[in-house]
This record gives sequence, structure tokens and C-alpha cells, in this order.
Amino acid sequence: MNYDIKDISLAEAGKLRIDWARMKMPVLDLIKARFEKERPFEGMTIGACLHVTTETANLMDVLKAGGATVGLCASNPLSTQDDVTASIVEHLGMSVFAIHAEDKQTYYKHIHSVLDMKPVITIDDGADLVSTLHKERQDLLPNIIGGMEETTTGVIRLRSLAKNGALKVPMIAVNDADTKHLFDNRYGTGQSTMDGIMRATNRLVAGTDFVVCGYGWCGRGAAMRAKGLGARVIITEVDPVRALEAAMDGFRVMPMSEAAKIGDFFLTATGDIKVIAAKHFEAMKDGAIVCNTGHFNVEIDIEALDAMAVERRGIRRSVEEFKLEDGRRIYLLADGRLVNLSAAEGHPSSVMDMSFANQALCAEYLVKNKGNISIGVHEVPKEIDDMVASSKLATMGISIDTLTEEQRAYLAAWEMGT
Ligand code: ADE
Repeated sequence: MNYDIKDISLAEAGKLRIDWARMKMPVLDLIKARFEKERPFEGMTIGACLHVTTETANLMDVLKAGGATVGLCASNPLSTQDDVTASIVEHLGMSVFAIHAEDKQTYYKHIHSVLDMKPVITIDDGADLVSTLHKERQDLLPNIIGGMEETTTGVIRLRSLAKNGALKVPMIAVNDADTKHLFDNRYGTGQSTMDGIMRATNRLVAGTDFVVCGYGWCGRGAAMRAKGLGARVIITEVDPVRALEAAMDGFRVMPMSEAAKIGDFFLTATGDIKVIAAKHFEAMKDGAIVCNTGHFNVEIDIEALDAMAVERRGIRRSVEEFKLEDGRRIYLLADGRLVNLSAAEGHPSSVMDMSFANQALCAEYLVKNKGNISIGVHEVPKEIDDMVASSKLATMGISIDTLTEEQRAYLAAWEMGT
């Protein structure tokens, strides 16, 4: 077994935290019990490029129970938890290539190390593994049964790959399953983003003006939680329908140029570049705090901020100060990377239970349907989405109604009116 991690002696500490997370991942437990018997991945290698957290470790355990050999690398240089990498190597005997705060060259070297293992299934969070596969390791493409993508940004990249005719393998957009984005993107991002901002700054959110850029599922979650903490939330959007929803959800909606003058906190959640740019920094109040929860560190124009600054210094963990010529200070959290995973620990395990249940079941689906799934970006099969929802409800002790035969017939009929 080959690996490249920070320090194997952290393994016991990692194991304690992984087991703690596991207590709130009962759907994965159910899948693991079945996989142990059925071994759907016997003899297969799975390559995973994910945030290396306690929750990811539990997914690795389930894939191993299914018979897979797994190679794991990071999907972001700052989200890797070094005690977790150590435990995955030590206790699961898996090849892990991830070191917290690794540089860009090491990050890509680690992606190549996973590809060197010749995976037949890929799991991505942001599509870096699959895009490296298509750009630089095309020799491996014939081995690939298919892959899964965890996040909105990655799905957008895959769709663009497919649109350009460059996608060569079947992919499943796990992000788009209802049991993924309605919960992970909304409640997971909502809570973990506020957690990251609060751990980084220890500032009170109540009574502040909190600007959320983007009202997708992640932006909604963050806005909801910032409001719950007592902030006056402002939404900026480019999509008129989403902007309308934000307005009717009770938020102020305005262009970034106006919001820039008002905000105490700024959070980007758009998936796009330069959402906070030089002209916005020009307008911000002294002490404004700027951070991002989108997948890549492109939403805040850090280069422009750096060019405007006369002084740049670290203040406390995950907080950097940029002093501008006129004396105003702007604070950037976590280097503009995902604040929830860089300054905190990512989404809580209870929500990752559903996201990763989808990943495990979609990997099994790809294997069972090998050769019969067309090249392209596919939805998660409805049966899998429903199964994850039903299992989660059952593990929460919640039962629901079922349709009577008469109701089923009514819903299927077109003839009946009033
Ligand atoms: N993405 C967001 N939160 C995460 C977590 N806890 N583990 C893995 N990926 C994540």
C-alpha cells in the first residue's frame, strides 16, 4: 500500500472522531451491512477525490466493505483533516494521498497517484479527478465503468465537458438527487458555513448586515441560518426567479454595488468568478469580513484585493487583514476557500449520511449496469433517491402515510373533476 499523508501517529485521534461521526450515519451503516454480504466491488479499484473528513472516512469504510480497493486524494488543499488521513491508512489499510495545506503541485501529484491505481469507478467533488483523467490520462479511460460527482460546480463542469463532446464515460450527478442538494447544500452548508465564520472570527452575527451572494441551495441555507442568528440578511443574485424567491422569503435584494456599502459580513455562494471585485472592496466599510462557501476560491478577487492593499498580515487562524491606502481594513477568511471546510469541519455527519449513501448506491448501480449506461451526465435513479429518503426517515424514527388504492387510482385518472 502506497500513501502520502502528514503524520501516521495521528491515527488514533482520527479514529475517535471518525467513530463519533459514524454515530449519525445510520443509512451508511445499513448499506455497509448489505455490502459486506454482497461484495459488489470485489476486485475493483475506486478512485475518490473528496474532502478528506471524518464523514468521507466512513464512506471509504463502506466501499471497502463492498470489496473495493480505494485510492483517496483531496478535492481541496485546505479541507484535509490530517488525523483522518492517518486513520484511513492505519485502520482501513487504504492508499491516501492528501496533506492539509498542500501546494497546487502536490495537490495534482496526489490526483495522479490515485489515477496510477487504475480505478474503474471515480468519485469526485468538483470534477478535478475526472477532468485530469480526460486531459492527461486518457489511456485509463477504457477501464472506467463510470463515475459520480458530488457538487454543483463539478456537475456544471461535467455538463460542459459533455456539451463539448469531450466526455468519454458515464457520470452520475449525485449533487442533483433530492436527498443530496435539498439537505446537504441547504442545511449542511447553512450550518457549517456559519460554524466556519464563527470559529474563524468569534464575532457576534446578531445585529449585523450579512450579505449572501447567490440564492442557490447553499446561499439559501446560509441566509436562513444567518437570519436565525439575528443578522439582517441581504441577497445579491443575477437570476430573476431566485431573486424573487429571496425577496418573498423576506430578504432584502439588491445589486452587489449597493450591498458592498452596507455589509459587515460578505459570503459568496455562486460558483462564479469575481463576484466580489475591486469596485466592491472600494465601497466596503472598515472592518468588513469577506468569505466564500462556493467550491473554488475564485468568487472573491483576492488578487485585486492584494493589489489594493498597502499591508497584508495574518491576524488569527483563518483571518487575514488587508489594509487599504485610506486606512480601511478588509478581512478575508480561509484564503477565500470554502470557509465551512477550511475554518470548520464541513457539513455535519447526519447530512453527509444521505449524500454518501447516494454515492455508495450509485457506485453499485454503475457496476450492476456496466456497459448499459450511455456516455453522458445522468440523474441519480429515482429508486435510489427514494430509498435514501425512506431509510433516513426510518432511522429518525419517523413513519409516514401511504396512499390507499382509491387515492392511487384517483391520482392516475384524468377523467375525474370536481
Ligand atoms: N462537503 C461538505 N461537507 C463535507 C464533509 N463533512 N465531508 C465531506 N465532504 C463534505
